[in-house]
Amino acid sequence: MSNIFFPNVHFNNIYEISPEFLKYKGITHVLLDIDNTLVPYSVKIPDKKVIDWLRALKGAGITTAVLSNATEERASVFTENIPEDIFKKDEIITIGKAGKPLGKGFKRAARLLGADFKNMCIIGDQFFTDILGGNINGVFTIWVTPIDKNESLFIKSKRVLERPIISSYRRSLKKMGGDTVGLLGVIGYPIEHSVSPQLHNVFCQVTGFNFFYEKFCVAPESLEQSFEAFKAKGFKGLNVTVPHKENIMKFLDSADHWSKKIGAVNTIVFKNGKTYGYNTDMYGFVNAVKHETGFDFKDKKILILGAGGAARGVAAGCIESGATVDVCNRTISKARELAEIFGGQVIDWEDGDFSEKFKEYDLIANTTSAGMRPQEDILPITVPFEFRKGQVCFDAIYDPERTLLLKKAEKEGALAINGMGMLFFQGLEAFKIWTKEAGCPEITEEQVDSAVKLLKERGIKLW
Ligand code: ATR
Repeated sequence: MSNIFFPNVHFNNIYEISPEFLKYKGITHVLLDIDNTLVPYSVKIPDKKVIDWLRALKGAGITTAVLSNATEERASVFTENIPEDIFKKDEIITIGKAGKPLGKGFKRAARLLGADFKNMCIIGDQFFTDILGGNINGVFTIWVTPIDKNESLFIKSKRVLERPIISSYRRSLKKMGGDTVGLLGVIGYPIEHSVSPQLHNVFCQVTGFNFFYEKFCVAPESLEQSFEAFKAKGFKGLNVTVPHKENIMKFLDSADHWSKKIGAVNTIVFKNGKTYGYNTDMYGFVNAVKHETGFDFKDKKILILGAGGAARGVAAGCIESGATVDVCNRTISKARELAEIFGGQVIDWEDGDFSEKFKEYDLIANTTSAGMRPQEDILPITVPFEFRKGQVCFDAIYDPERTLLLKKAEKEGALAINGMGMLFFQGLEAFKIWTKEAGCPEITEEQVDSAVKLLKERGIKLW
């Protein structure tokens, strides 16, 4: 899409443009149009919402400058009314009569900011000034929908000329999820170490689909309020992780068969004001095992270690793929609950013949946290047992990369795989759901391979 009139990206308004998005694009300096971008023409000073947005940018280390074609007075009255805690009076660079799309204003801004065009973006509402100017000068261009339709005759006449360009821009992105950047994210508590943003933004990169994915720390007590805020902000989808997977269900309009059975969702779709829940953990598990070992689930016997939320997802994946599951858990009563939902037997490792029984299974799936950092030196089973050659051992843990259980499995001739593959494939499945909803074409094998390659290059070891 190399049309000189087309923006690099389009958002509905400035509030959808997050510091994380800018940083992801390598932008350290933002040039801002004022009129109909930040405030309507009739408003002379920034309101609280604009100020909060500017504060968030500054907090993330992003420098702002105003680049307006309006008079110098209009521009400086605007910036002088930004509170001093964001910018000292002489700190924000304010350029009025910028002469966009010509290069003069852009060059002056770059000089005063001490920045390179390649690390700058222009955010504006007009194609023939902001966007064209940015494109001519090699600055990343962000088009926001004009705030107010009440414009001067001069601007209105320019809007008529913009119309065919906008239509053509929209058409070019129709199959890519739409012309505005589709907002996606993951909520959890804590969320700091989540690799989901890297994963999904790589999916966006290899497919070219028009989405951006971020992580959000949401405390349990603010779950409902945050969820409403994501809805109001126009998010297209969310992933949900610990500890919200079960609790979020009561806020959804509907959930699919498997997530109801599992009692947890990890993927949400927002569509036409409604919310839909899915559980892609089950496909993540099944597809990872198939991909990494070639295992065929049909009619196989599987032993699940653990009986919590992760165990339910794994059990659902096994059943849906035609296998049977037995459960083995430290607390027997919880294993019984799981067996009631998914069938199969409860296996007690205190039973004398446990080590014999253990060898009957085709696949052992550990879903407990035994062996996870910082408990690396424990096994999920506390009685003697041994793997047999040809068995598959899956461990949902990926930190450490090889748990004590996986090391033991490998040593005893079983095929051993960790939880990174499950993480990758549950994410891929969620991305497929969102992009299908948005009318994007199916993701190809080549695109998946490219994503794997890119992630590995970026130091994420998948398998
Ligand atoms: P998740 O959602 O990740 O499955 P969970 O619902 O808290 O988390 O479940 C944790 C599972 O790991 C449980 O089956 C738990 O066993 P209990 O039901 O007996 O609590 C299991 N687990 C945790 N620590 C364990 C350990 N040290 N040894 C064996 N099982 C353990």
